[in-house]
Amino acid sequence: MAQQGEKPMPNYIKFVLGGLAGMGATCFVQPLDLVKNRMQLSGVGDPSKAYKTSFHAVKDILGREGVLAMYTGLSAGLLRQATYTTARLGIYTWLFEACSKEGQPPSFAVKAVLGMVAGVAGAFVGTPAEVALIRMTSDGNLPAAERRNYSWAGNALVRITKEEGVRVLWRGALPTMGRAMVVNAAQLASYSQAKQFLLSTGYLGDDIKCHFAASMVSGLMTTAASMPVDIAKTRIQNMKIIDGKPEYSGAFDVLGKVVRNEGFFSLWKGFTPYFARLGPHTVLTFIFLEQMTSSYRLYILGNKETRGSL
Ligand SMILES: *[C@@H]1O[C@H](CO)[C@@H](O)[C@H](O)[C@H]1NC(C)=O
Repeated sequence: MAQQGEKPMPNYIKFVLGGLAGMGATCFVQPLDLVKNRMQLSGVGDPSKAYKTSFHAVKDILGREGVLAMYTGLSAGLLRQATYTTARLGIYTWLFEACSKEGQPPSFAVKAVLGMVAGVAGAFVGTPAEVALIRMTSDGNLPAAERRNYSWAGNALVRITKEEGVRVLWRGALPTMGRAMVVNAAQLASYSQAKQFLLSTGYLGDDIKCHFAASMVSGLMTTAASMPVDIAKTRIQNMKIIDGKPEYSGAFDVLGKVVRNEGFFSLWKGFTPYFARLGPHTVLTFIFLEQMTSSYRLYILGNKETRGSL
């Protein structure tokens, strides 16, 4: 929303700040991500690493592998933000401004479409880093002889390309892009909408309090929207063949069966741990993005009226 007499922010800066915001958030959230990946894959490989609870996992990793092990795969986590979040936040803030007319942000439906477009594009460029990330964070679960021992994300990408072929870098790209569509429509659109609403009440200015509140709303909405997608993905990845037929024919089949057999609200089983991971990342990413954007406007462009970017 460029306002009168204000110097516009170059588009490439939107990409740079988006990526930096995601990377900053990842530095805080990486240990949570590692524990989650270890939990999801526990039982595959080393049976002594079949963790019962997250607390048990943290204790075991700290005891056996040390504090630094909590940051295993940080380089891949950062690379994932440098690709995925640079693209999705850059594209979203750029399109958001392009679709705003005379300082009026686009409607919620348009915001949701922009979020989907940004998410799909981001997921496509981010998939190689995600493959590296999952392999690096779970390496410690495998028996020593089967470990891949990637030294850092770049090494993982080069070795995967050499040892398995470049297509393996985009393994799972389609479901990742589908999920990113839902996640980003929810996350980006609900953030902009919540922020717009909070500003319109007149109680909050475009400052960190408003950004915190709007990003909490966004984190909750994103969790609610992405959990059914996640349960479909997890059940399909885990399904058995019964009487020669696969248990589920696809994502919608999973959702239908869960609703019929377990009740509608079971789609959101495990809401709290899911939110515990997604919430902080969402809040930190938006707060960093808004802070960097308003500093950029104030100190580099010299605009007096500072405001966030979305
Ligand atoms: C990784 O290191 C372990 C020893 O820690 C070794 O047994 C294993 O073969 C190595 N894996 C590869 C792919 O080099």
